[in-house]
Amino acid sequence: MYGKYENVTELDHPLIKHKITMLRSVDTGTNEFRKLIEEIATLMGYEALRDLPLEDIEVTTPIETCKSPVIAGKKLAIIPILRAGLGMVNGILNLTPTAKVGHVGLYRDPVTHEPHDYYCKLPNPISLRTIIVLDPMLATGGSACAAVDFIKKQGGKKIKFMAIIAAPEGIERLMSEHPDIQLYIGNVDRELNEDCYICPGLGDCGDRIFGTK
Ligand code: PRP
Ligand code: URA
Repeated sequence: MYGKYENVTELDHPLIKHKITMLRSVDTGTNEFRKLIEEIATLMGYEALRDLPLEDIEVTTPIETCKSPVIAGKKLAIIPILRAGLGMVNGILNLTPTAKVGHVGLYRDPVTHEPHDYYCKLPNPISLRTIIVLDPMLATGGSACAAVDFIKKQGGKKIKFMAIIAAPEGIERLMSEHPDIQLYIGNVDRELNEDCYICPGLGDCGDRIFGTK
């Protein structure tokens, strides 16, 4: 629960908070930064996948045969928003190795801050899958809304969105445009600055993951 939103969860696990602090530091280099993004995604995924349905199968132990639960259906799709969302993919695949992976390519115009799409491909059909959209940064919410718009137009229904750091402005926008999705956040930061960067944030996440400037 975040503010009035029951479907927004700010995760409070100490390991997530600790690793986000390491991520923020200007002294954290590319290699360490990538590892942290992946580790945080795994920890967040553990919480975000808590409601996956189970079904019983029969299993024979060295002692006897019993019924025991496994994940039902295995119909998951992981959809990173390029580029920075790519850094979170393996973190989720560590938990659900058989998930399909789609891509939504968006970049934010540096002047208008509006998202522009350049490549989108989803597992087909998408409609029956539980979808986990990945982007470390939810700033104005423009990219998140554009990605969810696209996924819904392709038939996506059950959508979870994972952001490592979010600004209040982005949460409000995403929830007002897509009140039906589940949003998981590692930390809600203070605000956006005049360049629409999250404060205190961690700077440009894509550049820090890929070592570009
Ligand atoms: C970053 C980030 C989000 C977006 C968030 O991507 O990964 O996708 O900005 O900002 P918003 O909420 O205001 O839309 P960016 O556009 O910098 O592209 P990149 O990942 O390729 O660097
Ligand atoms: N995108 C980033 O990578 N960082 C921000 O703070 C905002 C958008």
